[in-house]
Parts: sequence; structure tokens; C-alpha cells
Amino acid sequence: MTAKIIDGNALAQAVRAELAEKAAALKATQGITPCLAVILVGEDPASQVYVRNKVAACEKAGFRSIRETYPANVEPAVVLGKIAELNADPTVHGILVQLPLPKHFDTDAVLEAILPEKDVDGFHAENVGALMQGTPRFIPCTPYGVMKMLESANVPLKGAEAVIVGRSNIVGKPMAMLLLQRDSTVTICHSRTQDLTFHTKRADILVAAVGRAKMISGEMIKPGATVIDVGINRLPDGKLCGDVDFASAKEVAGAITPVPGGVGPMTITMLLANTLAAAERTLK
Ligand code: GUN
Repeated sequence: MTAKIIDGNALAQAVRAELAEKAAALKATQGITPCLAVILVGEDPASQVYVRNKVAACEKAGFRSIRETYPANVEPAVVLGKIAELNADPTVHGILVQLPLPKHFDTDAVLEAILPEKDVDGFHAENVGALMQGTPRFIPCTPYGVMKMLESANVPLKGAEAVIVGRSNIVGKPMAMLLLQRDSTVTICHSRTQDLTFHTKRADILVAAVGRAKMISGEMIKPGATVIDVGINRLPDGKLCGDVDFASAKEVAGAITPVPGGVGPMTITMLLANTLAAAERTLK
């Protein structure tokens, strides 16, 4: 059996078209254009690509975007000053600081400086707490995108064994909360997990978010499972690949997301959704 492919590009296109329509309606009826400000510090090539894609997606959906870039050696106070300025600007609805930041930055302090109402990444402690309590204000974009993909593929969540490999604040932890809220039984595995295959083999839903190329192979997957690959790794030949060995996994899984063209496009889509929601909430 070959797995059904969950096409992130197609889903992203459909959701973005809806968001563009809603943004146009907000502009027509209220005179509000959703606006996202993206801050990039340093010259990390992957971050530069992500930021470029985020800004391009905004423009394509009819959103306004602001890009602020700083050299890697910038004083943190300069970036904090810009965040304060964007916080105070009523025409800016979302603020995102691309991570990782250079080592001399206190990342938590930067994330906490963003007004929680504009924190479209959902990384501010107040928003993390709200998600944990089951009353999210902004759901972090990657796990939010994964939930949309599971929904679109009609994957049953209630009572399902969900195994997440990776415990990051950006993906693993919020992913666990979202699946828990939908009544899955959730296990989080990480680099110190003793017998990874024992856990992954039990998973009805397996989410790989570790950042290691092809570390999940077909033998580690339960037949018929839904496999969500959050990894984006660059191979020595320049090609992109996920954390899952797609060739062997697709022979075992029931459904699987490809890399590229899986979770990646959905992350940016949900960033647009959060920015639109932030803009709409200014009316309430
Ligand atoms: N770096 C990797 N993923 C993300 C993300 O979702 N948001 C931000 N701000 N930085 C990231």
C-alpha cells in the first residue's frame, strides 16, 4: 500500500484564497488592511528565505507588510526600540521576530517585548499560557498548520495515539497541547528518549519535528499511520528533505506529508490567518 499524500501546497492555496477574500472585505467595509511587521537580525540564509517568503505571502494576499533587517551585531536595545514603535502603531496588527536570534540576544526578553495582541507567532509567555489553558489567542503557526492538515485529511483525533518527536517551544510543545485538546493521547519524544521506535511504532499520528534528515524510517512507523513531517533539512546535494525518510515511510503509512510541499506552505498560511485575526480583533 502506498500512502495518501497530504498536499500542503493545495491546502495552503485554498486557505490563502479565503484569507485574501476576507482581507479585501475588511478593507472595503472598515478601511483596515491587515499588516504584518517582520524583524530579521543577522544573515542566516534559511531565515532570509523564510522572511522573504512571509513578506511575499502577505503581498499576494493583499496584506501590508513591513520588513526590518539588522546586522547580526546590532545592539538588542535597537531591536527593542523598534518593537516598541511597532507596538504603538495602530496600523500594524502582527509583529514577528524571526528566530533564532544571535547569541548576545535574550530571546525571551525580545519575545516578551511584543504586545501579546500583536504576537502572531504565539510565542509570548501570556499566549503560551493561554494555549496551555485551552483558550488560545494565537496558535503557533506550524502546529496550527498541522492541525489544519489533519482536519483536511479527516484524520480521527479523539482517542488516537499521537507521538511527537521533538520538544521545541515552536513546534513540539504547542503541537502536544493542540492534540491533547482534541482528545488524542499524546507522547512527546526527544533526543534522550530511550527506545524511540517503541513509541513511534505505536503512533496513529506521528509528528516528526527534530531537524535531522530522514531519521524516521518506514520500520519505525505503524502500518496505516498518519505521518506529518515538519523537518526542513538541506542535503549535501542542495536538495530539501524532511525528518522522515519519505521513500520507505510512504510504503507503510496511511497518509503522509511530503517535503517540500507539506507543512512548510501551511506555516506561512497560518501566519496570515493569525495576522488577519489580529486585524479583525481591533474592531472589537
Ligand atoms: N524560526 C523557525 N520557525 C519560526 C517561526 O515559526 N517563527 C519565527 N519567528 N521564527 C521561526
